[in-house]
Amino acid sequence: MAETYDIIIFGASGFTGKHVVREALKFVSPTSPLKSLALAGRSPSKLVQTLKWASTSHPAIPVIVADTSDPPSLRRMASQAKIILNCVGPFRLHGEPVVAACVEAGCHYLDISGEPEFMERMEAVYHEKAVERGSVVVSACAFVSVPADLGFLFNSRQWVSPAVPNRVQAYLNLESDKSNVLNYASYKSAVLGFANADNLKKLRRSGRKRSRPSIPGYAPPKGSAIEHQKKIGLWAMKLATADATIVRRTLSMHTNNHGGLQGFDENAKQAEKRVAFWSKVKPAHFGLIKVASKNLVGMLPFIVVALSIMLLRRFRFGRWLLLNFPSVFSLGLFRKNGPTDEEIASASFKMWFVGHGFGDANAVGSRELDTEIITRVTGPDIGYVATPIILVQCALTVLEQRGDLPKGGVFPPGIVFGSTDLQDRLQENGISFDVISRSWISSKSDLRY
Ligand SMILES: NC(=O)c1ccc[n+]([C@@H]2O[C@H](COP(=O)([O-])OP(=O)(O)OC[C@H]3O[C@@H](n4cnc5c(N)ncnc54)[C@H](OP(=O)(O)O)[C@@H]3O)[C@@H](O)[C@H]2O)c1
Repeated sequence: MAETYDIIIFGASGFTGKHVVREALKFVSPTSPLKSLALAGRSPSKLVQTLKWASTSHPAIPVIVADTSDPPSLRRMASQAKIILNCVGPFRLHGEPVVAACVEAGCHYLDISGEPEFMERMEAVYHEKAVERGSVVVSACAFVSVPADLGFLFNSRQWVSPAVPNRVQAYLNLESDKSNVLNYASYKSAVLGFANADNLKKLRRSGRKRSRPSIPGYAPPKGSAIEHQKKIGLWAMKLATADATIVRRTLSMHTNNHGGLQGFDENAKQAEKRVAFWSKVKPAHFGLIKVASKNLVGMLPFIVVALSIMLLRRFRFGRWLLLNFPSVFSLGLFRKNGPTDEEIASASFKMWFVGHGFGDANAVGSRELDTEIITRVTGPDIGYVATPIILVQCALTVLEQRGDLPKGGVFPPGIVFGSTDLQDRLQENGISFDVISRSWISSKSDLRY
């Protein structure tokens, strides 16, 4: 019988995959929850190259050949793993056969997808089977969407009774001494996602209705396309990422499971910790995150890329132009050959969560929003440093706290990892969660959205 590895990194030769390999290698040791690792992909020579790139000490890491167009190769790979870390995208093209193989084999599956249609389809098709097979399937274990999902929960838990939040708006500020260059594969996934936006609408219409949390007060108005958030000193515009859909899925599952999801083999102490965690989570409206910059010039690449995708996504030639000239249509924000090592090293992110609510839940009907709590998640380069850290820490959490997680199923990250040690692990590895301020709102003009 083939050996079983704690983790197999699939798509290890990719731009993101190779950084995931480098991050994972830091944790392989006989005393760590991660004792054995293997790399998988369609090209053995590229996997060997990846290993040489990722470590100068040439560790003896096995290489497994698997291709998303060859289901038996995926089944062989899944049968040798406790967890598959899937870095092969776009996930709408490559993801489903990998999920199917993992669920069939009963191994766990984590990926770095940021594609709502793929994630929601996998939940619709594989959830029941994953429960039955004991396979935990979690997408978006990456910059999109762990900082948003855990960051929302963090802000929501700062509202101590009788205070309650009504809305939380996230602002993403990307910083760099050089240029910010983002992941081309994510741009490609976004172009394909917007081109097929109708499929997501159809999927949502055909599925069962999600439970909606009960949120005190009125839903926020739509607001202007571009705003100046004076509290954090940034200009901001809406960015159509998967973050809002993920946070809403987590809140919807929380609505049906007030104490969180029971671990299949958790002890009394962990059960108490889980219930204590989730009892402090207070639902709030969470819209699309807003990308933010100190000045309007910094917003320009995002405005250009958003307009270009909206105008060209529907036409075959338009998509060809978008995919072949990413730099032109994003003013250099996306490049096919990705960022340089220096650009990666100098990049960082701040995600602000500006929460507005009521100081007293009992007076919601008769009162304006009167309380503001601002929290922040900060970390290194989103695509190639933060994403590998998040994916590897999610995997270590599964390995170390398996009994504290549900037996199986397809979930967004927040509902699975919220009450585990993941936030502490991220904090120890350079992704911080901080409370910035708590204040009374004195006038309506302080409410900018
Ligand atoms: N959520 C987030 O925050 C986040 C952050 C970063 C990346 N991502 C996502 O991660 C994905 C990968 O990004 P990337 O920059 O690493 O892309 P990439 O450089 O194009 O790498 C793609 C990887 O997939 C492999 N692959 C392609 N077709 C395959 C097949 N048929 N069978 C097996 N392997 C195959 C490639 O193997 P070869 O080397 O053999 O071609 C390569 O290893 C994208 O979907 C991106 O959107 C998400």
